[in-house]
Amino acid sequence: MNTIDNLKGIAGKKILVRVDFNVPLKGTEVRDDNRVVAALPTIKKLLSEGAALVLMSHLGKIKWGKVDDAEIAKQKEKNNMEYVYPVLAKHLEGVTVKFSKATRGEELKKAIDELKGGEVLLVQNTRYEKGESKNDAELSKEWASYVDGFVMDAFGSAHRAHASTYGVPEILKAAGKPVALGYLMEKEVKNLGACVKGDNHPYVAILGGFKVSDKIKVIDSLLKKCDKILIGGAMAYTFLKANGAKVGNSPVENDQLDYARNCFASGKILLPVDNVIADGFDNYNKDNIKVTDDENIPDGFQGLDVGPKTVALYSAEIAKAKTIFWNGPMGVFEDENFQKGTVEVCKAITENKDAFSVIGGGDSAAAAKQFGYASKFSHVSTGGGASLEMIENDGHLPGIDVIG
Ligand code: 3PG
Repeated sequence: MNTIDNLKGIAGKKILVRVDFNVPLKGTEVRDDNRVVAALPTIKKLLSEGAALVLMSHLGKIKWGKVDDAEIAKQKEKNNMEYVYPVLAKHLEGVTVKFSKATRGEELKKAIDELKGGEVLLVQNTRYEKGESKNDAELSKEWASYVDGFVMDAFGSAHRAHASTYGVPEILKAAGKPVALGYLMEKEVKNLGACVKGDNHPYVAILGGFKVSDKIKVIDSLLKKCDKILIGGAMAYTFLKANGAKVGNSPVENDQLDYARNCFASGKILLPVDNVIADGFDNYNKDNIKVTDDENIPDGFQGLDVGPKTVALYSAEIAKAKTIFWNGPMGVFEDENFQKGTVEVCKAITENKDAFSVIGGGDSAAAAKQFGYASKFSHVSTGGGASLEMIENDGHLPGIDVIG
């Protein structure tokens, strides 16, 4: 792997480090600084080599298109990297950490030119530039012209071929400038690589979350690698309906029923055999929460978690596994009435000490953290979409491949 350990003679050089500081915000406050913490080993290593670091990241989404300037200004204010700046500065106490409001042009160039070895410049949200998500050639050229080298450490964004994740390293590499993967990337590639290869059987995948349609590619890929796929979350109701069960008012993607039926032919799909149900999603009557006897959900009710028989069935499969990949909670884990399925899955996975266990980022990583299990997994990925795409594409992501 082409990592930062191969970078030599970078003292005083300007290195653009693409980090993923797309952190959850509550107003102006960073709710979880995991992604900032995860980038520190790379940042500290490059600083110890005397490099001048230009950190770039996107934050949230800016929806360009047919919207007026006032709407764009509103979105920019909501996704302002200045909110992350103090969190980074605190983690890098003793280091000079500056912030650039400018995302391109003379002002940014000047700030980078003035940056000395051992200093850090955090740049405003890359998505303030319309060309970022389009991998705009002019923007990539401009950003590349400001620096002497590039380090990719934004695993969560490595599935995006954007200017800051793809265009810039492509240009610098072609010009013979140093490009490398950071330590966070190295760790993710190595650990998720075990789930991509899936050599160690039994290999069990646990998939939850809302939509089957979001997971089709990963299900197709996992069906080839895994011995069992345990389905939970809202997407289970589409599978259950496809299998002939009654699902009441549960959310179902009717256009995915045929796809779900085709999956059954593999014999690898396990579905809930009971469900925790209520008479609504967020305005349910607490007294009407029930556990079904079997997979069927009566009219007027909807499924919100897997039931105890399902937990026992899934836990038995998990206990036999040597490789485990988990993406997507089993129920509405944010609500204490519907979190048991997810908690029990965390418990079962972490009790299997023989298995290599990986959480594919997103909500499942948040759930494992909330319930105190995160540190007991072999690996918790910092990327949701990226870890799924990595499995779908047999280990390839644009942000990795471009580094070479
Ligand atoms: C993530 O949070 O999944 C990554 O930062 C990518 O964000 P995006 O889906 O907005 O590109």
